[in-house]
Amino acid sequence: MPKVNFLPDNVTVDVSKDENLLRAAMQGEVHISATCGGVGTCGKCRVVLEKGELETTDTELLTDEEKKKGYRLACLCKVKSDAELRIPVEARRGERAVLDRLREAAAFGVMLSTEDIHALVDFKVDPLIQKVYVEVEKPSLSNNTDDLSRLEQTLKKKGYEDLSIDYDILVDLAEKLREGDFKITVSIMTLDNNHTIVRIDSSDTTKSNLALAFDIGTTTLYAEVIDLISGDILGKASDYNPQISFGEDVITRIVFSVKENGLKKLQKAVIGDFNKLAKEALEKSGRKIEEVSIITAAGNTTMAHLFLGISPKNIRQEPYIPTVTHWPAIKTSKVGLKSPKSSRTFVLPGRASYVGGDVTAGVLASGMYKSDKLTLYLDVGTNGEIVLGNKEWLMACSCSAGPAFEGGTIQHGCRATLGAIEQVRLNWEDHEPMILTIGQAKPIGICGSGLITALAELFLAKVINPRGKINLNLETKRTRKGKSGAEYVLVNKEDAKIDRDIVITEVDIDNLIRAKAAVYAGITTLLDNAGITIDDVEQAYIAGGFGNYLELDKAMLIGLFPETDGSKVKFLGNGSLLGARLAAISAKAHKELNDIARRMTYIELSVDPTFMDRYMAALFLPHTDVKLFPTVKKLMEGGG
Ligand code: FES
Repeated sequence: MPKVNFLPDNVTVDVSKDENLLRAAMQGEVHISATCGGVGTCGKCRVVLEKGELETTDTELLTDEEKKKGYRLACLCKVKSDAELRIPVEARRGERAVLDRLREAAAFGVMLSTEDIHALVDFKVDPLIQKVYVEVEKPSLSNNTDDLSRLEQTLKKKGYEDLSIDYDILVDLAEKLREGDFKITVSIMTLDNNHTIVRIDSSDTTKSNLALAFDIGTTTLYAEVIDLISGDILGKASDYNPQISFGEDVITRIVFSVKENGLKKLQKAVIGDFNKLAKEALEKSGRKIEEVSIITAAGNTTMAHLFLGISPKNIRQEPYIPTVTHWPAIKTSKVGLKSPKSSRTFVLPGRASYVGGDVTAGVLASGMYKSDKLTLYLDVGTNGEIVLGNKEWLMACSCSAGPAFEGGTIQHGCRATLGAIEQVRLNWEDHEPMILTIGQAKPIGICGSGLITALAELFLAKVINPRGKINLNLETKRTRKGKSGAEYVLVNKEDAKIDRDIVITEVDIDNLIRAKAAVYAGITTLLDNAGITIDDVEQAYIAGGFGNYLELDKAMLIGLFPETDGSKVKFLGNGSLLGARLAAISAKAHKELNDIARRMTYIELSVDPTFMDRYMAALFLPHTDVKLFPTVKKLMEGGG
């Protein structure tokens, strides 16, 4: 691992080979002005190479003379070996020692790779619908058994007994057999040891079997194309959930669903978008919709009901009873999804009205349900969903955080997509920002991870106070009064891809503080219900569609996550989508999801008398009781 040393602060950072130099500086909390997001157009991220080797993209923003003297633009450099860089004009970020201590206390949450996650749970590719190639004995006058019986006898030799067959398939059976000269591929769905023939192809199509895995988020929809032969992800697509125009949270959507045609409109919107996303993801993978056998879909209980056009109205009324939590296999064509009529949709099982298939999906992907270690699982989405437990017991709760961490209700919030600002640093003296975007493309907005770091950095640089109020008396042009009140200008219009400044407003900050307060209150209420503290937790997984980076130290600094030893915490990515993917590739995973859902004890936060008090107390950065965040307290006091 190359080491990069930044002077004059003498900060050394271990980075992987080819790491972007600006990202390395971010990692080491070394401030370099960077306002274009790492695109190479603002020309501000100047560094001087003193030792070592960098791969540099040429730029006209530096003169030949400067290049000879070793000047480089950090965002255009990849680290090739150990290197030493000097930041030309020193820009201190304040008390380094204290920042380092915070970093030590809460190291970056480790981002798990797809391989890590598959290793955690170790499911083999063994899907619920499998394809079998068979050569059926041709009929003759001496062998005049009917077509279906002869097919059943052939499949029996392959281990499939007591088969049933879909009526639709039976209608075409004789023709398909003869079309393929009795050499055919049979798709067989196996559920609870019952086998059903769901499709017949009149050729060998065993090499082509696909699944679509969907995450039905309240704010964001994700789709993946998965190869059911290798288990590989072939293509992805995502978009905001179009149901947002009918209401931002599940409650307003339930209210809308009971209006005339409300349910139909909500279902049509989400299914229409998934058809679009599936098309896009399939095009990216160069595959066809005809190859799809399985669709798995994970979402909270309300989203799952709306996805299938089932009324969620009782979820909202005491005693809060959904129509279904353990879903049967559903013929995809019935739902309106564009997919072969033989394909089946499997909605992941949930536990209760407010702990749905997205949570069981994350619990499955984390492997916590079969771990000896006491584990905390947190999914930060429009709802904060929290699970505590291990292989012996599981306890879950859900709190409404709102869509802020997914970019909703934030003026320049956006999904974690190309050009989204995902990391932010602020200079403590001149309050100038250092930003990095996904794909180092021109900034379009701020995604969840960017919002968390931006909030933390604004607080650290004292641009905002613990109540989230912006100080308009600072000597900087970055803070100003905008149309909707005080705001901080993160990106000037000329550096942005959109035709206006990218700002964070006081209203945005207020929404973020409410969201983090709800999540923190949910975590601490659940811990209290279990009679333990965060220190008793042996490992923690954080899930959410943040993007590639979740800086745990910044999440603790704003009081989203309790202060704890960061080495216990791992970042799982989108837990709901991961679970949907595992259920697509593995019948065993599908079965275990049902077991997880049955095992979870559900804690209803709305009837817990302490939840609201905890929420109110957390409406501060990091918290009204700063003693709960000792490292942040020291940082705020400016001491070590
Ligand atoms: Fe490097 Fe703008 S030129 S961040």
